Amino acid sequence: MQLIRDIASLREALFTLRTGGGGRIALVPTMGALHQGHMSLVRAAKERADHVVVSIFVNPTQFGPNEDLDAYPRQEAQDAALLEAEGAAILWAPSVAEMYPAGFATSIGVGGVTAPLEGAHRPGHFDGVATIVCKLFNQVGPDVALFGEKDYQQLAVIRRMARDLDLPVDIVGVPTARAEDGLALSSRNAYLSVDERRRAVELPAAMREAVARLEAGEEANGVLAEARARIEKAGFGPVDYVELADAISLEPVRTLAHPARLLVAARLGKTRLIDNFHVKSTK
Ligand code: PAF
Repeated sequence: MQLIRDIASLREALFTLRTGGGGRIALVPTMGALHQGHMSLVRAAKERADHVVVSIFVNPTQFGPNEDLDAYPRQEAQDAALLEAEGAAILWAPSVAEMYPAGFATSIGVGGVTAPLEGAHRPGHFDGVATIVCKLFNQVGPDVALFGEKDYQQLAVIRRMARDLDLPVDIVGVPTARAEDGLALSSRNAYLSVDERRRAVELPAAMREAVARLEAGEEANGVLAEARARIEKAGFGPVDYVELADAISLEPVRTLAHPARLLVAARLGKTRLIDNFHVKSTK
């Protein structure tokens, strides 16, 4: 695996890979602190391409002023060893100066799907995500790019951007990897104390219970309120949202005429956790 830090070397290495037999390239964008969720993206990428490029870049523009940019876990040597063992071809790990050179003044804003949920609670977050992902697509020129469904709204935003800007890349969503007790794997789980980690399991448990009740035809407002109460009782707070939304547009829905998604964001101590689950259409 090649560890590359500048765009000129990246282009050279990609040219060699593309011309060296079997040219399909997959990109797995990450912010590092890799866990088994990321590795499932790399494995899914290997099934779809001849060469896998993984990027590690903790992108400052997607963090708000009071968020965890400085605390975000950074463990590049450990990540590189995992990727090497998994057979990635390139680890693309640029510096902030390489990605945002002096005078950088461009931002990509995706409308609609960015407005609710994370967009309402993290102003500017999706502009940062869309801008960096668009740059990564332009730098790597992947045939396919893979993103975890754990960040479900992010996946919807990237699909919208790729469609709207005619970006020649297939966007693939990969199901959320979970610990045995059901907690979604996340680099931010590292912030949880032992006691918080024990209580965190109530988040997916409350969501699964809510999904079952919604699919059984119970009235949505009541189910959402009870899921929120169960999460709060476990010690989460504030709960930013427990929302039932259309699976594509992410607009709130209260009936299941189309496939929907149940999404949650809540803070446990200083850690903000998000999760989401598919809800079947009952029509
Ligand atoms: O999901 C992430 O890790 C990040 O938001 C991404 C897609 C790598 C962009 O910085």
